[in-house]
Amino acid sequence: MPTSDSKLASLEQAARDAARNAWCPYSRFPVGAALLAVDGRIFTGCNVENASYGLTICAERNAFGQAIAAGCREFESLLVFTATPQPTAPCGACRQVIIEFAPDIEIISLCDGPDKIRVSIGDLLPLSFGPHNLS
Ligand code: THU
Repeated sequence: MPTSDSKLASLEQAARDAARNAWCPYSRFPVGAALLAVDGRIFTGCNVENASYGLTICAERNAFGQAIAAGCREFESLLVFTATPQPTAPCGACRQVIIEFAPDIEIISLCDGPDKIRVSIGDLLPLSFGPHNLS
């Protein structure tokens, strides 16, 4: 079931707030993510870059890390916000992490322009390798 408009409004605000905390002195591309759990909790993340560039962690993966550390395992939707003219879809590495924990999650990407992305993780990562392959 698609995430309700009122939940989306809360997620958008949380993702916008998280994006303001992004540590991105190298790319200057702040990203905020807000992850809605089935129990109603919202976990946020921002991108955290490093002078050793490859150590950068994306906003989406940080949001999942927060949730998993809190013991949360069931998720409804993930909203990604960038203050850009076009919305940003999760990168390939994040898609793989998302499918590990949330094979049916809805992904919404919003930006400062009118365009948005609203898809399932299965749309973003079809024919995926995941936990189902190992059980
Ligand atoms: N980034 C994210 O946080 N999420 C995405 O989905 C795309 C990319 C970050 C990583 C890096 O800090 C910056 O955006 C530019 O790639």
